[in-house]
Amino acid sequence: MHSYSLISPAKINLYLEIIGDRPDGFHELVMILQSIELADRLDIKPSDTQDIYIHCDHPQVPTDETNLAYRAAQLMCDVFPDVYANYGGVSIKIEKNIPVAAGLAGGSGNAAAVLVGINMMWELGLTQPELQELAAKLGSDIPFCISGGTAIATGRGEKLDALKDLDNIWVVLAKYDNISVSTPWAYKTYRQQYSESYVSDAEGIKSRTAKVRSSPLVHAISYKDSSKIGELLNNDLEKVVLPEYPQVGELKSAFPAQDVLGTMMSGSGPTVFALCESESKAIAVKQQVRTQITDPQLNFWVTKLSSSGIQIQSST
Ligand code: C5P
Repeated sequence: MHSYSLISPAKINLYLEIIGDRPDGFHELVMILQSIELADRLDIKPSDTQDIYIHCDHPQVPTDETNLAYRAAQLMCDVFPDVYANYGGVSIKIEKNIPVAAGLAGGSGNAAAVLVGINMMWELGLTQPELQELAAKLGSDIPFCISGGTAIATGRGEKLDALKDLDNIWVVLAKYDNISVSTPWAYKTYRQQYSESYVSDAEGIKSRTAKVRSSPLVHAISYKDSSKIGELLNNDLEKVVLPEYPQVGELKSAFPAQDVLGTMMSGSGPTVFALCESESKAIAVKQQVRTQITDPQLNFWVTKLSSSGIQIQSST
C-alpha cells in the first residue's frame, strides 16, 4: 500500500447570497467559491493498528473525532468496512498553513484531502462525483474543496457548476488571531434578522439561483474582467458579522479602495480579503493596512487565486 502527500488549498467566497430556509435546517445558498494558493499539506499513510491518528503541530487543531479530517477517515472506514478490516487504520499528518477558524474552509479542505488520499491508498477507484457525494455528508463546502477552482455552489453549497478558471488575481488575507466567529451563530442570527425576505418555495429558489447564474459577476468571471469582479463581490453574512465584530468592519475599511479591485469578508469570517491586480500591489496594500492597524493580533497572507482543488503531491 502506498502513502500519499496531498495539497489542500483554502477557499474564499467571491459571492454568498442566502436565499431561504431548507427543510433540513440548513440555508438555501447561492455562492461563488474560489480556491486560493494558500494551502495545507497532508501526509496520509496506513497506521499499524485499526485506529485513526491525526498529528498536527498547530495548537488550535484538535486531533480527535471533532477534527473533520478524522471524520472523513471514519466515514471511509464505515462505508468500506471490508477494505478497512483488511488494510487497518489511517495515520494523517497535517501541516497547517491556512489560518484556523477563519472562513477559509481550511478544515473542510483537509477532510476533502483525506477522502481523496484514502481513495488512492485503498485503491477504491471512486470517481470525483462519488467522492463529492461522500464529502457532502461531512460538510457543505467539502465537495467544492475536492474539485476547487471557480464554481457556483447552490443548495446547501454542495451542488457545483464549474466556472472559467481565474488565476491571475492576487489576494491579501487579513485575520485577527483573537477573533473567531461561529458559523452556526452567523447563520442563526441572519435568520433572526432577515427571515422575512426568505424564499423557500422551489420556484422562488430556482429564479433567485438563475438570477445569479446570469448575473454581471458571472459574466465578469467568464470574461476574466478582474476590475468588475472586484466591484461585484458580495457576502450576505457581513450584515450580521460586521455589526457584532466592529474590528472586522474597520479592517475592511482600512484597505485602500483605489489600490484594490475589491474587499470582502470570506464565509462567516473573520478573515477579510482584498483582490489585487499584481503581486507588488498586494504587498504594498498589505503594508498600508499594517501601518494603519499595528495590533500584533492581526496577521496577513499574500496569495493568488488558484484553479486547483486537492492535488496529489507525491506518493511513496
Ligand atoms: O455544513 P457545514 O458544517 O459547513 O455548516 C456549518 C453550519 O453553518 C451549519 O451547522 C449551519 O448552522 C450553517 N449552514 C447553514 N446553511 C448552509 C451551510 C451552513 O445554515 N447551507
